[in-house]
Amino acid sequence: MALRNIRVDDDPILRKNSRKVEAFDQRLEMLIDDMFETMYDANGVGLAAVQVGVLKQVIVIDTGEEDEKLVLINPEIIATEGEQTGGEGCLSIPGKNGIVTRPQKVTVRALDREGNVYEKTGEDLLARAFCHEIDHLSGVLYTDKAESVQLITNEEE
Ligand code: NI
Repeated sequence: MALRNIRVDDDPILRKNSRKVEAFDQRLEMLIDDMFETMYDANGVGLAAVQVGVLKQVIVIDTGEEDEKLVLINPEIIATEGEQTGGEGCLSIPGKNGIVTRPQKVTVRALDREGNVYEKTGEDLLARAFCHEIDHLSGVLYTDKAESVQLITNEEE
């Protein structure tokens, strides 16, 4: 495994569409392992492949509340319920956070790392992570949807 370089701020790749994964090969395995390592190293709860410069529909999530590390390949949101408004950040927008309204409950359909289809419903932070990461696959950042974005100051840490 290896740490990958996280693309940040105005890097134009962050605005591009990611392509569907078709080959479940060793290259994909390596990408997923590297993404987990990179996400944990940066203390993130989710990471999309585009954030490490790979335009593939691959997402890793670990909110710490679930008992599993989630891999979402070619994901789609198939149901949403309710609404939550709260704080959100992104490893590609360092030093900032914002207030974003998302569904309270989200069901996704995706492929796992072996290419098996599954569905999963998340609430609260996981629902927010599903929406945030899936937005990355079409070049959308949380700052596009935030009602406010602020700098994180040292005093708040
Ligand atoms: Ni993000």
